[in-house]
Amino acid sequence: MKIGILRGEENSFPEALIERINQKSAERKLELTAEFIKVETVQMAELCEYNLIIDRISHDVPFYRAFLKNAALSGTQVINNPFWWSADDKFFNYSIAHKIGVPIPKTVMLPHNAHPPSTSSQSMRNLVYPINWYNVFNYVGFPSFLKPHAGGGWKHVYKIHNEEEFFHCYNQTGTLCMVLQEGIEFEEYYRCYTVGRKHVHIMRYDPKQAFYSQYVPGNPPPTPELSQKIKEYCLQINNALGYDLNTCEFAVRDGIPYAIDFGNPAPDCDIKSVTPENFAWIVEHMSELAIERALLPKQPPQEYTWSQFIGTTASSMSEEKKSPRRRTSGTTRRASTKSE
Ligand SMILES: Nc1ncnc2c1ncn2[C@@H]1O[C@H](COP(=O)(O)OP(=O)(O)O)[C@@H](O)[C@H]1O
Ligand SMILES: [Mg+2]
Repeated sequence: MKIGILRGEENSFPEALIERINQKSAERKLELTAEFIKVETVQMAELCEYNLIIDRISHDVPFYRAFLKNAALSGTQVINNPFWWSADDKFFNYSIAHKIGVPIPKTVMLPHNAHPPSTSSQSMRNLVYPINWYNVFNYVGFPSFLKPHAGGGWKHVYKIHNEEEFFHCYNQTGTLCMVLQEGIEFEEYYRCYTVGRKHVHIMRYDPKQAFYSQYVPGNPPPTPELSQKIKEYCLQINNALGYDLNTCEFAVRDGIPYAIDFGNPAPDCDIKSVTPENFAWIVEHMSELAIERALLPKQPPQEYTWSQFIGTTASSMSEEKKSPRRRTSGTTRRASTKSE
């Protein structure tokens, strides 16, 4: 049996993961090895030799994404689910999280500032114009954040203090589809790894610091109540989105953790930025999850319909607690309420 890692420019985490999986496999006398995948051209419906693939890069390489979907057809499990990863976006995720009761800052999606490529004003005839900006500003308020509806890596993220600043920034966004979101003036900020939809690791994080100093060493824990809330929200979010590895970020205002960014299916796991302590946690938990999943029987995907992923709400999770066998046994849908 084999576990494959697909990675881009990243170093440290993939190597450590392979080493730890192989070490555990040897200790447990499993016939299981982990390695970096080599991919060439891919034949349609080709069988994939891997029981499990951990994907760290397909968001940047469409060829890899298509390879992974094809691999899933032959029963390979992929972390994270390439179908859902292709389908969701930040704005949709805010809506899902809001629907399942996670506190989300008020968010509005805005029409593109400039026409998308190969379109004209004729293509936009369904759009109401001029936009009623008063309604938008009234709902969201200031300060607010203007950011892409499907962005990442802090690109095109603007903090906005007034209408004038808004138009100045919005006019620079071109063909991007943007959201305007209530700014949470936070007392504390946390970034949390969530692994296997069951383990949560809360990290104190200071987004205002330079990149390599954002993880506050020692992870001073939040109060037990806040910690419990954050863990619950992480599990709810990841059960709804169907991600097995993700980071969820929370800005805490007046004791309420607002979920800000929780669509990070290939989160930063570099030892240089996340600090050795957090690195050790993620390597340990991802290696364990990889082994657990790889040992399950290979089977074609049963459940790649996203509507099932959003079926898990706070209430259905507590129902599941009462009768854990009620749910499907599918490997991509292993909801759990256990956290640590
Ligand atoms: N609504 C918000 N309230 C407070 N801070 C925010 C808000 N939205 C974004 N930020 C800040 O901007 C940073 C980048 O925004 P984020 O949504 O995480 O975008 P990306 O996906 O590009 O990382 C966050 O880490 C946070 O510091
Ligand atoms: Mg972010």
